[in-house]
Amino acid sequence: MRTQVGIIGAGPAGLLLSRLLHLQGIDSVVLENRSRDYVEARIRAGILEQHTVDTLTAAGLGDRLQREGLEHRGIYLQYPGTRHKLDFPELCGRTVWVYGQTEVTKDLIAAQLDGGPPLLFEVSDVRPEDVDGDSPRIRFTDADGVEQVLECDVIAGTDGFHGPSRAVVQGAAGRVWERTYPYAWLGILADAAPATDELIYAWHPEGFALYSMRSPSVSRLYLQVDPAEKIEDWSDDRIWENLATRFALEGWELTTGTITEKSVLPMRSFVSTPMRRGRLFLAGDAAHIVPPTGAKGLNLAVADVTLLAQALVRLLHEKQTDLVDTYSDRALARVWRCTHFSWFMTSMLHRSGDDFDAELQLSQLRRIAASEPAARELAENYTGLPLDL
Ligand code: FAD
Ligand code: DHB
Repeated sequence: MRTQVGIIGAGPAGLLLSRLLHLQGIDSVVLENRSRDYVEARIRAGILEQHTVDTLTAAGLGDRLQREGLEHRGIYLQYPGTRHKLDFPELCGRTVWVYGQTEVTKDLIAAQLDGGPPLLFEVSDVRPEDVDGDSPRIRFTDADGVEQVLECDVIAGTDGFHGPSRAVVQGAAGRVWERTYPYAWLGILADAAPATDELIYAWHPEGFALYSMRSPSVSRLYLQVDPAEKIEDWSDDRIWENLATRFALEGWELTTGTITEKSVLPMRSFVSTPMRRGRLFLAGDAAHIVPPTGAKGLNLAVADVTLLAQALVRLLHEKQTDLVDTYSDRALARVWRCTHFSWFMTSMLHRSGDDFDAELQLSQLRRIAASEPAARELAENYTGLPLDL
């Protein structure tokens, strides 16, 4: 088999990259080790920045997003006694959209299978090889157990945090930065109409809570818990009681409903540099992880592949290496900005158990509520900074 760009991983990064290249007349093959059902059912992120929506729409993937996505014009920051709204259009002229990553993934897979480049599910033993030369290749075993070799001009490692690409790029010269936060999120999906018009990020003495949603009848809610917490110890009643306590505000009531999914998510920051070795380029979670408090993971993956697609078009159509040569530095500038913002939101909103920290957090929250420049800084980062900083 031969293609121009061999793409490892059919998450949002790999699928969108394949789509953007296809629209520019560049062919690719996407290799995914899970099944289509598994990939489409993975419940993850929910907030799309303006540029993510614009990129998906320009790539012909905006139909269902425009129909079923929910445009949000702000968020609430809550701390005891106060629920303060940040109005994004007023502060920075942009909005965000609620549209689940599962839906983005389904739209991307549907477009790919409808006349797009090949997408092979349930492959195994995927290995990028000879990435320092001009003719790299990917060895893998297909779903029928047959060993295959995919010859490529370029390989994109969009295989997430656990994929094989990062170790190859790291080689001897790479470097990794990591922070593990002493918090985790217990996330639920519930058949309950959202009891709020905008997302609520709530600081509370008992821990952070986040109120999000997926549709007019489905809510997505999160509670800060200890990373060692076992999901079996959290009955539905216990979850609702904790949510009611942490979101409590006079005159407001939580709506409950049937919980259809629940899980505990660890939180870490992770950055692997550089994002390129020879003809192997990393994008998305393969190169970096952010804690979810800033809603950046999926958006960063989209930003990376937008830059990477431009660079590969220039390399493969015009034989110019300038954009691939600067790809890693340009992508990392945005990665570090989003890593800082995600750290900032995480540090400001989670209860560490230290009362001095709590006073600093409350002081920062009051500052954002009182100061337009402080609020604008948050709004600009949350709704998404320009692609090339
Ligand atoms: P992924 O979505 O991880 O895709 C990588 C793909 O590569 C997967 O399909 C994987 O199966 C495949 N793959 C892996 N190994 C191989 C291999 N050896 N061969 C072939 N294919 C392989 N972000 C937020 O902003 N908000 C959230 O609430 C949020 N919640 C999250 C919850 C969880 C449990 C996780 C794990 C992440 C969450 N994120 C969240 C982060 C967000 O989902 C990711 O940033 C986003 O999925 C990144 O997309 P990606 O395509 O780079 O990686
Ligand atoms: C969602 C997840 C986030 O991490 C976040 O900051 C906002 C919303 C969500 O899943 O809806």
